[in-house]
Amino acid sequence: MDTAAIDPALYRRVLGHYATGIAVVTALGEGEEPVGMAVTSFTSVSLDPMLVAFCPDKGSSTWPKIEQAGRFCVNLLSHDQEAVCRAFATRGGDKFAGVDYRISEHGLPVLEGVLASIECQIHSVVEAGDHWIVLGRVLTLEADAERDPLLFFRSAYAQLAPLAG
Ligand SMILES: Cc1cc2nc3c(=O)[nH]c(=O)nc-3n(C[C@H](O)[C@H](O)[C@H](O)COP(=O)(O)O)c2cc1C
Repeated sequence: MDTAAIDPALYRRVLGHYATGIAVVTALGEGEEPVGMAVTSFTSVSLDPMLVAFCPDKGSSTWPKIEQAGRFCVNLLSHDQEAVCRAFATRGGDKFAGVDYRISEHGLPVLEGVLASIECQIHSVVEAGDHWIVLGRVLTLEADAERDPLLFFRSAYAQLAPLAG
């Protein structure tokens, strides 16, 4: 099928069948203002060197602030952080209102209650259609083995249902 003939709604619907976790990518913007955006486009890329990636929309108002900061923190959301996701998926307003966070040694906002955090320095940015592919070199990372993830599948939030046995 000629891709030009594919309905964008079909593309979205089919790609929505790839279940993912949800991350909030944060940084300190100008004047130490914390900034962040919710993404499902996060992935690990390389072990040596350690590289991860996420894909911000070219229309994002948050991405230029992260790029300016030169580094970012990937906060993997826990199953009880749907409200945090919604706050960081909304354009404008104070996304950090009511969200507890600390500033790390690398000067990055790390959200409280997350499943894991991965702090990165921007390695490179690749143009990809209406998005950018941002590669980050890992500076430090940690995980909480006690927490479960918030998932996203078919445009809806979900939680793990472990298989029996
Ligand atoms: C579940 C979910 C996943 C998202 N994934 C992405 C993503 O991978 N890339 C992206 O640019 N925006 C993604 N968004 C939208 C951004 O979170 C949202 O547009 C952004 O935070 C608000 O715009 P701003 O960057 O101008 O603040 C996602 C939103 C939701 C709810």
